Amino acid sequence: MNEATWLDPGLAAFYAVDTRLQGAEARILAELRPRMGSWSMLDVGVGAGRTTQHFAPVVAEYVGVDISPAMVAQCRRRFTAAPCRFEVADVRELAALGRHRFDFVLFSFNGLDYLAHDDRLRALEQIHAACRPGALFCFSTHNLRALGHLMRLRAQFTRDPAWLWRNLRNWVRWRLRHARHVAQVAAQERDWAIVNDGAHDCRLETYYVRPAAQLAQLEPAFGAVRVFTVAGRELAREELASSEDDWLYFLAEAR
Ligand SMILES: C[S@@+](CC[C@H](N)C(=O)[O-])C[C@H]1O[C@@H](n2cnc3c(N)ncnc32)[C@H](O)[C@@H]1O
Repeated sequence: MNEATWLDPGLAAFYAVDTRLQGAEARILAELRPRMGSWSMLDVGVGAGRTTQHFAPVVAEYVGVDISPAMVAQCRRRFTAAPCRFEVADVRELAALGRHRFDFVLFSFNGLDYLAHDDRLRALEQIHAACRPGALFCFSTHNLRALGHLMRLRAQFTRDPAWLWRNLRNWVRWRLRHARHVAQVAAQERDWAIVNDGAHDCRLETYYVRPAAQLAQLEPAFGAVRVFTVAGRELAREELASSEDDWLYFLAEAR
């Protein structure tokens, strides 16, 4: 279901509107910027290029890939100058981009969460193979502890009447079809779960994971992991288990 949703050309226009970095991305960029001038960067699941305008100007080479031809077309239209290049590619098969080639890989805004569990582990292997030893990998992922407060009715309200109507219609559909399953999963002691959280009109199944389980997934291939809230505050290890942020950013070093 997820792949068909991402391949919908209509989503490219939706993503083209958003141009701001999330707080964690801005903090990580600010920290890394002094070292990035000679770096090759791979932006996986680049979408319509929200992150491109911020990261591409500070690196030597910038390659954006996405499974959606419409997203890639949108990026190619918007960013024509060096050092940018965009390709249609699936994160589950990155060998064509070359091994041990990138100094920094970004998979922003929870793109990793739209893969099934085995595909997620494969994606992590592929990203690791694309990284030079010591390269940095930054991504975000949904936090399983956020399931308890997902899709609150009050979060659907907005001043824009068209969006209000759309949000409420989607919320009702989600309540009727998916809320019970989400509540059941939230009450269990799982490491991860795939649920419908209402994203894109309930057309996506999203992976939610406990931060400790995410660290364990990274462990074979990545070390020196740092974790940030969406706003950009770095979390200490003892804070991870109690964080209820909807998603968290991870920054890890390829072994
Ligand atoms: C939530 S959007 C984020 C887009 C962009 N990174 C941003 O932050 O605005 C996730 C992106 O991942 C892409 N994607 C989903 N599955 C993918 C896969 N298997 N391989 C590569 N890209 C994928 C989608 O097409 C979509 O553009």
